[in-house]
Amino acid sequence: MDSDGTATQIQIRDALTNRDVPVKVFGWIHRILRHDNEGMVVLLRDGTGFLKCVFSDQLYRMYSGVAREASVCIYGKISAIPEDNAAPDGLELSVDFLEVIGTSPQGGVDEIVSKCTSTEDQLDHRHLMLRQEEMSKTMRLRSFVIQCFRAHYVDRGYIEVTPPTLVPSAKFEVAEELFSVNFFDGNVNLTQSSQLYLETVIPFLGDVFCVAPSYRVEHKQTRRHLSEFTHIEAECPFISFDDLVYRLEDAVCDVIERIMKSPYRKIVQDLHPNFKPPERPFKKMSYGDAIEFLQNNGIKKDDGTFCRFGEDISESLERSLIGIVNKPLLLCRFPTKIKPFYMQPCSDDSSLTESVDLLLPNVGEIAGGSMRVWKHDDIMEGFRREGTDPTNYYWYTDQRKFGSCPHGGYGIGFERFLCWLLNRYNIREVVLYPRFVGRSSP
Ligand code: 4AD
Repeated sequence: MDSDGTATQIQIRDALTNRDVPVKVFGWIHRILRHDNEGMVVLLRDGTGFLKCVFSDQLYRMYSGVAREASVCIYGKISAIPEDNAAPDGLELSVDFLEVIGTSPQGGVDEIVSKCTSTEDQLDHRHLMLRQEEMSKTMRLRSFVIQCFRAHYVDRGYIEVTPPTLVPSAKFEVAEELFSVNFFDGNVNLTQSSQLYLETVIPFLGDVFCVAPSYRVEHKQTRRHLSEFTHIEAECPFISFDDLVYRLEDAVCDVIERIMKSPYRKIVQDLHPNFKPPERPFKKMSYGDAIEFLQNNGIKKDDGTFCRFGEDISESLERSLIGIVNKPLLLCRFPTKIKPFYMQPCSDDSSLTESVDLLLPNVGEIAGGSMRVWKHDDIMEGFRREGTDPTNYYWYTDQRKFGSCPHGGYGIGFERFLCWLLNRYNIREVVLYPRFVGRSSP
């Protein structure tokens, strides 16, 4: 109780520690669980959790106009009621009084939701769909997982940076096209990766990371590609390829440990009951061995032929591969020809690169990284081979002139990581307002 004798305002996440005292809780009517002659029971949502609220017979008559999604303030006392599935955390609020703050049309949301049968309808009404239980849990967990990534890097001594996302043209990744943006009197592009900028800051910040949007022109709709995704990238000076691979594995395992040690573990268990934290060390396989593995297991491309050395391992082959291995897999040493020119060739075979992709069950590739070409002459040769004019990249190539060093980094597709953690089939399920070909609103 507040000092003036009124109820204490609490958030639902603090319900457990505020039992048996007068409280008031602001939130939205998430669901009407029961509404009959014996009373009314609603599930209240406030963003921090859900609370079952029970109205007495008399009260419910007063509030019979209460509708789903109305915003309200509910006064009452919270008590523990074990063995009631409808009461999250075994708590319920016995209501003394309800104040409607913002009305919602009676049956309105139910009608919209029931009419949203197609994916297109659901995406058009994303703002309301997001209020559903699974979606709101997913978004809450998403926020915590980003915090865990930050905590991981800060704990390991990395510095966070926020590189620009409006960039001069740079076709550094495999994708051929870039989104172009009107920028005052000229055109710039939306970044595909913050890697180049990260490379320029390691000489004054050491190990660095960023959490930033990246943009890819993907003409096909697939269940793991977005046009705009959250990219978690790290870059580290003075490391070896083995260090890089270890650091990627450490980031994934440590973040999972942080989640599973926290109360957010419950959301993972609700949405992905069979989730098992990965075991270290991850299995490693060279690209060459993966090609052989696919052939030995009779896994062919869509055209009925085997994937041969030097070809890209397609999304569907990758999924078959990880389906058989069924645990995290670090695919290493991809051919120089199929990887971007900034990747450092292997010292024992210059036709291969010091590169790594991390594949996870049900999703496939969630991260890609490499050691970088770090000698000035070599990177200039790369630009030449690629047919890219290095002039506008002086700020990148200068790093190879002024105290260069062996360095490497990786990028994790945050949404793909979430798909794996929460066993979501489509990447769109783990992002607020997905962007992909044909969809740029709401
Ligand atoms: O393998 P990618 O293209 O690597 C890079 O961009 C490097 N420059 C990163 C680095 O070394 N700093 O992308 C990294 C990851 C992929 O493994 C994938 O998880 C994700 O980014 N990704 C996408 N996620 C969603 N939608 C897309 N269209 C994606 N493209 C890549």
